[in-house]
Amino acid sequence: MTHRIRIADSDHAFDAEEGESVIDAALRAGLMLPYSCRSGTCGTCMGDVVEGSIAYPDGLPPAIDSQQDSAGKALFCQARPASDLVIRVAEVRDAGDIRPRRLPARVEHIEECAPDVRRLFLKLPRDKRLPFLAGQYIDFLLRGGQRRSFSLANAPHDDERLELHIRHLPGGVFSGHVFNDMREGALLRFEGPLGNFFLREDSDRPMILMGGGTGFAPIKGIIEHALYIGVDRPMHIYWGARARQDLYLDHLPREWAEQHPHITYTPVLSEPAESDGWTGATGFVHRQVVEDHPGLGGFDVYMSGPPPMINAARQAFTDAGLPADRLYYDSFEAAP
Ligand code: FES
Repeated sequence: MTHRIRIADSDHAFDAEEGESVIDAALRAGLMLPYSCRSGTCGTCMGDVVEGSIAYPDGLPPAIDSQQDSAGKALFCQARPASDLVIRVAEVRDAGDIRPRRLPARVEHIEECAPDVRRLFLKLPRDKRLPFLAGQYIDFLLRGGQRRSFSLANAPHDDERLELHIRHLPGGVFSGHVFNDMREGALLRFEGPLGNFFLREDSDRPMILMGGGTGFAPIKGIIEHALYIGVDRPMHIYWGARARQDLYLDHLPREWAEQHPHITYTPVLSEPAESDGWTGATGFVHRQVVEDHPGLGGFDVYMSGPPPMINAARQAFTDAGLPADRLYYDSFEAAP
């Protein structure tokens, strides 16, 4: 039996299937409520049951006592609705609402998608999930205190495993490991989620989303999240790369654009190979954006890529009328 859950003082509501926890049902609906351990031990997911009743199939979880329970408090990672509910809980709206954690993860799968790009899929320990906002990144924690940052390419509702896009850098400590000797099942440690690059859901302006190289990764996460929660604002995706083979998941944005009339996709190559037979846009990707949209005053712009691209684009977009507070970007310096 399905139960309807409404969040007090908000216009958000969602359905929970029989036996589904409130947090799981919210995530399935594309809503982010606070959580961390998802096993009833940390208390992060605590909120109030304003109307209706809940049940804990395995008894009262460790992070709530009977006094809190009787006062109407609940741990929503464990609570199952026993009726329709009205709950009071602070929705996660900002990166500052999620505390980064250090977690282990196993390499579940490595996929070659271009000669110098691998997709890395990570599995967290059983019962652990990573709450994050679409577009954020994680830091791998390496020996000697070194860190390497990579954007999450999956959307938060699709959190069975984490997806990262790794470009091979000559002499790269981590990317060299991924390309040369990393095996499926290997154990890694990371800290996350990190960063302020995420979809602002409270805007109704059309969006431009521009990725350079593996800067496509967080753009992918943002688009998948936006489609999942039903964002119908126009979205124009630009992907800048050197040659055709560097558009390593080109079929994805093409499919989004084919299936959704509010999505447009423009790939732009800076150095197409002759064998590419390329007839599409060429040059610097940010220049193509301004050529297509000479007035950016009414847009929100999201961009992710290497610093030279980001810096050139910031200037060009500001000159085209984009207010600085509507430009969201993730500039990643590739560290070897
Ligand atoms: Fe830790 Fe619910 S998320 S107790």
